[in-house]
Amino acid sequence: MSNDDAETKSTADYREPKRWFRQHPELGTPGRLPVSPYESQEQHEVEKKYLWRRVWLMMGRVEEVEKPGQFFVTKVPPCDAEVLVVRGRDGEIRAFHNVCTHRGCPITWEEKGKVGAFKCPFHGFVFDLSGGLAAVPDEENFYDLDKSKYSLSEINMEIWNGFIFVHFDPEPRQGLREFLAETADRLDTFPFQDATHYYEYQGQIDCNWKLVLYGFLENYHTQSLHKTSISPLVVSHDNPFSHNLKISLSEKHRFMSLFGNPNYKPTDVGSIASKYGVSLMQVAIDADDLEDCVNPTKSDCWSFDINNIFPNFQLNVVNGTWYCHRFWPLSPDKMQMVTRVYFPKPKNAGERFFQEYSKVTTRDVLLEDATLGERLQSVLRSKAVEHWLLQDEEIAIQHFHHTLDKFIEHERRDRP
Ligand code: FES
Ligand SMILES: [Fe+2]
Repeated sequence: MSNDDAETKSTADYREPKRWFRQHPELGTPGRLPVSPYESQEQHEVEKKYLWRRVWLMMGRVEEVEKPGQFFVTKVPPCDAEVLVVRGRDGEIRAFHNVCTHRGCPITWEEKGKVGAFKCPFHGFVFDLSGGLAAVPDEENFYDLDKSKYSLSEINMEIWNGFIFVHFDPEPRQGLREFLAETADRLDTFPFQDATHYYEYQGQIDCNWKLVLYGFLENYHTQSLHKTSISPLVVSHDNPFSHNLKISLSEKHRFMSLFGNPNYKPTDVGSIASKYGVSLMQVAIDADDLEDCVNPTKSDCWSFDINNIFPNFQLNVVNGTWYCHRFWPLSPDKMQMVTRVYFPKPKNAGERFFQEYSKVTTRDVLLEDATLGERLQSVLRSKAVEHWLLQDEEIAIQHFHHTLDKFIEHERRDRP
């Protein structure tokens, strides 16, 4: 089936069965996934070697380093690295390993801040904002030290629509734009820069990183697991299992446009809060009022779009705001999840109240998903289950599994 055909089919009304798997024969037999890759040390090592150092990884936003000297540090556990992102005096943003070139101490121990230069806490080497080694205490006691050879180690960095990505390969196969492909095409004009004030949740969860990620790749569980939290927003009498408006699977990434219950009524507190800001819990009932780059089926029952960017960055856009998740492996059965919810900077107490309310509703859903991930992992250890069964609306999980396998297989062959 051609892409055009897939597009036509996918814009059909949500009430019709979509049979997404029929549009993707490349995914193999629908609905059967082996569970062994989700608990194995070997798979964890394979991913460390062939995946994480060979893809673009999202670190943060340009607004976090708006002025020269502003910096932040992002830990990248599967690469055993800390990435220091800083804006130089020349206005350029650069990314470095947060490692001193003397004896390997992290040059900053802060998560973010603003400095004139970086002074290593261990012996006091000073690095300028472009990474150059500017001063060395007791320099004459070194042997022929050429400071120009001891700059900070720079990491490939590129920016798309304000998102700062790095790539640990010194010579990435693809530029960022090519890597993001249709996700960038879709969201080039989304005004991420209008909502840059964020709240963050971070948590260590005792399960494989993909188990939590998969919870964000299907909506089938919402009517059950999230029955009292988010279900009223995305489930209705005529769409009781929240079938998606659209699922689009490309070479590496996944896209889902989610149904919204047109009869959704916020709670009493939610109604008061939503008078003061753009809520994450909203249903667009007039598609014409929306940004062109969201709600591709132009449905009047739309809640939000999910852009799942390979391998671990999920970018969700709502009418007027956005939020994102990052999923980092720590070990085969431990992961770190980082969620940020973005709003415009609150201008008064009402807006602040609204944002606090939104924060709490997000937290409840995240806790339900995180707890579920841990329960799934403990069952995997029992070896009682060898395969997972997937239904049509869970196709993005099979697509992710397939994409990861294909990527690793290709890298293994190409650069063993
Ligand atoms: S390790 Fe940084 S100055 Fe010695
Ligand atoms: Fe969920």
